[in-house]
Amino acid sequence: MGSLIRFGVSLPIELLKNFDILIKKMGYNNRSEAIRDLIRKSLIEEEWKSKKEVAGAILLVYNHHTRELVNKLLDIQHDFGKLIISVQHVHLDHDNCMEVLAVKGKTHEIKELYYKLKSVRGVKQCELVKATTGKKVK
Ligand code: NI
Repeated sequence: MGSLIRFGVSLPIELLKNFDILIKKMGYNNRSEAIRDLIRKSLIEEEWKSKKEVAGAILLVYNHHTRELVNKLLDIQHDFGKLIISVQHVHLDHDNCMEVLAVKGKTHEIKELYYKLKSVRGVKQCELVKATTGKKVK
């Protein structure tokens, strides 16, 4: 973090009360850190609206016995090989697998990969976690 600045914010008292209850539940010790995180979240959302490079993670859960599913997922991952930094595969049980793909690239490319994986028949869960490359978010 660079140099710090203090600023005042006016807001309805009920809003602040509810915010304080929420951040206490979330484990924050003070409002400043909670507000910093909200600002960071907004900046990351904004990064993802741009066409700049971002980072993220795609989580998949599927039954590997489903016909053709594994081949389809592998084909897609090979097509988007330049975006995928690493893949972690976990055998959850006899049938179910979980994969976490660490990705980095342009927002529209990552979203395309995410939508393709999500739409494969037999995929039980597919989530995209939007991360920042960290350059603009301090
Ligand atoms: Ni597996």
